[in-house]
Amino acid sequence: MSQSYNRGLIEDFGRWREFSAGMWAWIFHKFTGWVLVGYLFTHIAVLSTSIPASAGETVVYEGTQVDVYTGTIVALESLLVVRILEVGLLAVAVFHILNGLRLLFVDLGIGLESQDKSFYASLILTGAITVASVPTFIAGAF
Ligand code: HEM
Repeated sequence: MSQSYNRGLIEDFGRWREFSAGMWAWIFHKFTGWVLVGYLFTHIAVLSTSIPASAGETVVYEGTQVDVYTGTIVALESLLVVRILEVGLLAVAVFHILNGLRLLFVDLGIGLESQDKSFYASLILTGAITVASVPTFIAGAF
């Protein structure tokens, strides 16, 4: 016989203070997954400028004639906001990968008793890797 459980309005974000570590892990994983999908389209749009570039299309960047692909990349990388978004993208990707691997282990029955700890470990490791990446991403931005 089937049983039903009253889970309460756990989806109600007004009750976010009551969310468990597992709920946060679920929210962050969905969020980061869909941010990565969104980035993929941006990435393809930028890389697509290599097609007109290969046909010889050029733009003027800071008084110099450059191919449209190089011009797009150089102009984007000259913006501080793009460098900051890149750090955010790394954080999102690292968290999604670490938490995703953690979930795959959980699916295999490994680490079932320490799911909260492994989630916190994913967060801390993501933070450490993100902070360590900042000098690389910001280099030459000023
Ligand atoms: C090593 C890399 C990756 C690993 C280990 C990984 C792992 C996972 C796992 C295990 C899930 C299912 C979570 C669950 O049980 O609910 C998931 C969901 C998801 N992943 Fe990844 N993933 C990776 C890379 C990516 C990339 C590159 C993208 C996007 C371009 C992506 C987009 C998504 C999305 C959108 C979901 C949520 C799907 C839904 O709403 O149900 N993932 N990922």
